[in-house]
Amino acid sequence: MDYSNYFSDLKTVSACLEKRDELGNTGRIREIKDLITLANPEAKKLLGAELNKLKKALQQSCDEQIQALQSHLEVDEVVDFDPTFHSNKYLTRQGSLHPITIVMNEIVEIFQKIGFDVADGPLVETQWYNFTSLNQPSYHPARAMQDTFYLDLKDEKKENYVMRTQTSGMQIRYGETHEPPIRVVVPGQVYRNENIDATHDIMFHQIECLVVDRRVSISQLKTVLQSLFAQLFEDKSLVIRFRPSYFPYTIPSMEYDISCPFCHGKGCRVCKQTGWIEIGGAGLVHPGVIKNINLNPDEWQGFAFGFGVDRVTQFKLGISGIGQFFNGNLGFLRGQ
Ligand code: FA5
Repeated sequence: MDYSNYFSDLKTVSACLEKRDELGNTGRIREIKDLITLANPEAKKLLGAELNKLKKALQQSCDEQIQALQSHLEVDEVVDFDPTFHSNKYLTRQGSLHPITIVMNEIVEIFQKIGFDVADGPLVETQWYNFTSLNQPSYHPARAMQDTFYLDLKDEKKENYVMRTQTSGMQIRYGETHEPPIRVVVPGQVYRNENIDATHDIMFHQIECLVVDRRVSISQLKTVLQSLFAQLFEDKSLVIRFRPSYFPYTIPSMEYDISCPFCHGKGCRVCKQTGWIEIGGAGLVHPGVIKNINLNPDEWQGFAFGFGVDRVTQFKLGISGIGQFFNGNLGFLRGQ
């Protein structure tokens, strides 16, 4: 059966598709469909094969006409296309860096100025690097502190890979491959299976900082934090406050706050009238972690800290909801 006559006069793709559907419900095709419902099993087979042949012929004629129309359109477009054409009406806007990338770059630059290396790590991580080597074996309750996405894929230890929940695994990866003294920062994405709200997302960004040397103290840790955030928020009077906390890979462990750079500690909407803004976790590197990077904890010590870049960007740029960063709203990304 040749259906090409039905299509040859049609001028648009949608007209071709409409005609295909119309013919598919009428004429010989309709007749065979009706007969199939009445036929015995033997005849059904024959009629089914006949129906398939007709449908194929119909689709082929439709496709041929669509192809002919499209090749025609392409030729017309090429003729009309003027690569030098320039008009404000059609001018596309220039792209720009994402707000988180801008703040991340600023942070990394501050560290680079004081001699830190910058490292990158895998987003899909083994349980060894993400947890176990950081003193969190599978039975450790601290694993529950970070809701984890497990992958349906096992590593050499027959353990499921995870989407990394923190950048801290890079303490071990970097330590294993570099001689001390170590001064490194690791920026990157991390993932947690959490409920999304104004300050929590399932994908966010952290920066990890690790220093390993022969004599490392909490006062050095505090000085680095203070200098980083004073520069980032352009507030020379900014101070750091430690609160006791727990992380399995640091001892002692603390969380740290910065004095609010917007009201200088007096209390405002950003710091919820407390004068302080919570930033992240820190501590002196646990001797077990020093051992896991093949160093003698009697000789080498370290400090480490990490924080969420999304939240810092929210504070710095006055962004109310973390969800705005990746919801694809171009107006937001253009700063409108
Ligand atoms: C950690 O992830 C530790 N690895 C930090 C650390 C590093 C401690 C080195 C000691 C030494 P925590 O789970 O608190 O800690 O996360 C750190 C920061 O990430 C938080 O303060 C917060 O700013 C940010 N964060 C955590 N969960 C989310 C989330 N769901 N969405 C956005 N930011 C988050």
